[in-house]
Amino acid sequence: MARTYHQLRADLLKALAVFLDAEEAQAETMRWFEDGLGLSRSWMVLHGGEEAPSAIQAQVETWLERRRQGEPWAYLLGWSLWRERRFEVTPATLIPRPETELVLEAALDLGRRLKVDRVVDVGTGSGILGITLALETSWAVTATDLSPEALAVARRNAQSLGADLSFVQGHLLDPVPGPLGLVVSNPPYVDPADAPSLQRELAWEPPSALFAEERGLALSLELLRQARHRAAPACVLEIGAGQGEPLTAHAQAMGWKRVQVHQDLAGHDRVLMVM
Ligand SMILES: C[S@@+](CC[C@H](N)C(=O)[O-])C[C@H]1O[C@@H](n2cnc3c(N)ncnc32)[C@H](O)[C@@H]1O
Repeated sequence: MARTYHQLRADLLKALAVFLDAEEAQAETMRWFEDGLGLSRSWMVLHGGEEAPSAIQAQVETWLERRRQGEPWAYLLGWSLWRERRFEVTPATLIPRPETELVLEAALDLGRRLKVDRVVDVGTGSGILGITLALETSWAVTATDLSPEALAVARRNAQSLGADLSFVQGHLLDPVPGPLGLVVSNPPYVDPADAPSLQRELAWEPPSALFAEERGLALSLELLRQARHRAAPACVLEIGAGQGEPLTAHAQAMGWKRVQVHQDLAGHDRVLMVM
């Protein structure tokens, strides 16, 4: 069917609005055109009335079919912007979340205050935290992940962004030689019991990147224990809503002297800092 770019965009908006709310459908339509097809708004003003080639229409239909099944747009596109940098993402990595910027900001602030010269990003995924720290500080950065597939993506991101850091594979801090420096992590912290009520798109992300036993706390607790045992000066962890209180009690029992919890804009516990 012959359609202009404007008609294609209007049809896409309608199709996305069947399973997204109006605002999300609008934003996604714009991203599909700008990021996916490379057609800027100004290009559309000039050429939107022209007929869209069948290859472009077919591409949109293919994405739409996958998107209807719930596959996140970032996986269809193959990358995601985080802190204005482009990170490759695959189904082996978590899709970077805006709230993880709070962890980065807290790590930058604390690391500067403590005058650290090294940092470990545990569970690096696509590499957002470790790579950004390597690009924005002079600290020596080591990034770890249990998943070799995620590490391969993180390595490619480091290369394409020109970041200099080391990658090691293994469980939490096990593969990192000492001394540690600041420990930063967005570990898996979702309670497996919450799985049925989660957004359907989360089903496409690796369960090993999302879930942790003991109501989501198991890996955070083990990381805090390992870091304390190895005399890390401080840790900055992303945490889930309602996890601040139990993690504070456990961290104090482990011997961490100062423990702080920060909330995100929605008022949910989001960052744990221990020193
Ligand atoms: C929530 S994702 C965070 C990814 C990335 N740091 C981000 O913020 O987008 C958690 C990451 O931890 C990794 N992971 C899970 N269990 C681990 C473990 N025991 N040791 C090290 N990494 C682990 C997962 O493979 C995943 O990449």
